[in-house]
Amino acid sequence: MIIKRVELVNFRCHTKYQLECVEMTSQILGENGAGKTSVLEAIYEAMRGKSFRAVDTEILKRGEEFYRVEIEYNSGERIVVVYDGVKKQFLVEDKKFTRLPKKNRYPVILFEPSDMGLIGTSPTKKRDYFDRFIGGFDEKYVSDLNKYKKALKQRNETLKSDLVTRDALFSWNVLLAKLGCEIAKKRRKLITEVNNELTDYYRSIAENKDKVWIEYLNFGEIEEILIDESQYLRRLETDFERDKILQHTSFGIHKDNYKFIFNNQDADGSASRGESRSVILALKFIEAKKLQENTGKKPLVLLDDVFSELDKKRQKYLVKNFQNHQVILTSVTKNL
Ligand SMILES: Nc1ncnc2c1ncn2[C@@H]1O[C@H](COP(=O)(O)OP(=O)(O)OP(=O)(O)O)[C@@H](O)[C@H]1O
Ligand SMILES: [Mg+2]
Repeated sequence: MIIKRVELVNFRCHTKYQLECVEMTSQILGENGAGKTSVLEAIYEAMRGKSFRAVDTEILKRGEEFYRVEIEYNSGERIVVVYDGVKKQFLVEDKKFTRLPKKNRYPVILFEPSDMGLIGTSPTKKRDYFDRFIGGFDEKYVSDLNKYKKALKQRNETLKSDLVTRDALFSWNVLLAKLGCEIAKKRRKLITEVNNELTDYYRSIAENKDKVWIEYLNFGEIEEILIDESQYLRRLETDFERDKILQHTSFGIHKDNYKFIFNNQDADGSASRGESRSVILALKFIEAKKLQENTGKKPLVLLDDVFSELDKKRQKYLVKNFQNHQVILTSVTKNL
């Protein structure tokens, strides 16, 4: 899908803003705080159904009563998002929906400045990154993950009660084991698939012979635990006394981590900035490819301020690799 036009009303700092897009690369230029990321946020919302960085109350321009986003595709399809301070509606072909219908959702690759720090970031942020990666093409994964998070919260709440018993946790344990296994299997599958391609992409960007891969650390342990629902359940049950003292669930996929390895060495702390950037670029290209394979649609590429972070060689590589995609990029200075 090619975006032709974007219009914002009362969206963050924008009272009224319009962007006409071209089929290849459109640039949004502006000073810090001018509202560049907000435009990408609005596009993302109209294509995916929600923002990548905030809730609607934060997005609504301060002092205003509603915000509106409209995008028009080359095909003539128009999506309007309206939020009135309480509820949000999507207008598609004159019909109203409370959520963006599946058939009107399109794949988007978002490249943010914070992605550059992925290798050395916290397990939470790494999980978020790969969750969004899988969630881009697997709706079931997103809903399983949401259910998992809710169940985890409930289990943790139950653990806080002085009178908590093993029995009180049983139904939560069963649910967490079931969802946790599903999620872990998909995370592991994704990393296996990424690893099949990562080194090749990396070598063509970095122009060296290094070998790079990602280790998926189940439940924070180096040794991979066989992902088996009954084992998972047993582990939750045996941890009862410990969890009761800690008042939270110490075992599960909410503790998973991902480690980047360069030539058998943990990249965190050892990889140079250039090497890290090359890996992240490689990962983004694989993400674009996977999204396209799994959705049958070519993803839109949103590059937020990342161009200036790259040297000329990597900038060229980025342009070349995304040359068949529509790209919308933001920058403080002119790049193209
Ligand atoms: N709800 C809101 N109402 C009014 N202004 C807001 C709201 N939310 C954010 N802003 C302001 O909008 C401005 C634009 O933010 P945005 O992140 O889009 O800028 P940017 O151009 O991407 O900046 P940078 O170059 O620093 O990344 C900021 O100054 C921010 O304070
Ligand atoms: Mg920004």
